[in-house]
Amino acid sequence: MFEDKSTGAFIPPIFLSAMFEQRGETRLTDRGTELKYSREENPTTRALERVLAKLEGGSDALAFNSGMAAIAATILALAKRDTTLLIPMEVYGTTMELASTLSEKLGYKLELTWPDTESIVESIKSRKPDIVMIESMTNPMLRVIDVEEVSKTCFDEGCWVVADNTFTTPILLNPLKKGAFIVVNSLTKFIAGHNDVVGGAVISIGPVIKLLWDWRRMLGSIMQPFEAYLTLRGVKTLSIRVERSSTTAKAIAEFLEDHPRIEEVYYPGLPSNPYKRVADKIFERRLYGSLVSFKVKGEGMRR
Ligand SMILES: Cc1ncc(COP(=O)(O)O)c(C=O)c1O
Repeated sequence: MFEDKSTGAFIPPIFLSAMFEQRGETRLTDRGTELKYSREENPTTRALERVLAKLEGGSDALAFNSGMAAIAATILALAKRDTTLLIPMEVYGTTMELASTLSEKLGYKLELTWPDTESIVESIKSRKPDIVMIESMTNPMLRVIDVEEVSKTCFDEGCWVVADNTFTTPILLNPLKKGAFIVVNSLTKFIAGHNDVVGGAVISIGPVIKLLWDWRRMLGSIMQPFEAYLTLRGVKTLSIRVERSSTTAKAIAEFLEDHPRIEEVYYPGLPSNPYKRVADKIFERRLYGSLVSFKVKGEGMRR
């Protein structure tokens, strides 16, 4: 819970202040960074970060003004010219576009692999990447990637795993607890949850957060205090929303599976789905997420 010792307030105020006084003693945040300018630190944003770190089981978190800003800072912080970055083919389109554009600009090598655990593990062993960037559940096919298996292979081969946990959310999965190095999240989706915030986050364990903090400061991509306040408000109901929407999604998937006009349903909670075994292994609860994809007979794919 938020504690404001000066007022006793339970809810963090929205600190709409660009600057903070710099006379006398330097004010430090709880992570030891200076509180002087809201492009670097803001107390409302900081309050959200503490919640996000706890939710994902990390030691610290950084909130960004979009999921893409969080992903951009992560790639910029980790990738060098001689880096090899491995990404499964089925990731969010703008993530792929960014990874590929930055690869052309910075000169690192981008390797693509088939989006399932076996192919990713095989590619790590054979192509020896420095960074592997996965989505714990892919879109639109809703393939569940075994983050634990990928992280174990990466540990053995000496590379870092970055896991995008947007669709699984910290309610279903905590990639850091399964061995991932960094978790990124588009807060825009489930965590803020009310379609009124665009935001992102990076959560990790250890000193990499300081490196990412510098990139966020240089890029000017910190989440602003009003958005942080709304996200703090939204995240309180995350568990209940994910529970309800996952139960509804499963019921819809079961209904569609028996429907005469549906060719195929993709939902990791269906016994017929090839990714259910992985979901049962790595998900915290017997919930399988809030998205359902399906193919209508004679037409294309629907979500
Ligand atoms: C899996 C995933 N990661 C990242 C993003 C980017 O997040 P944002 O739209 O908040 O920048 C998205 C956006 O749809 C996404 O689906």
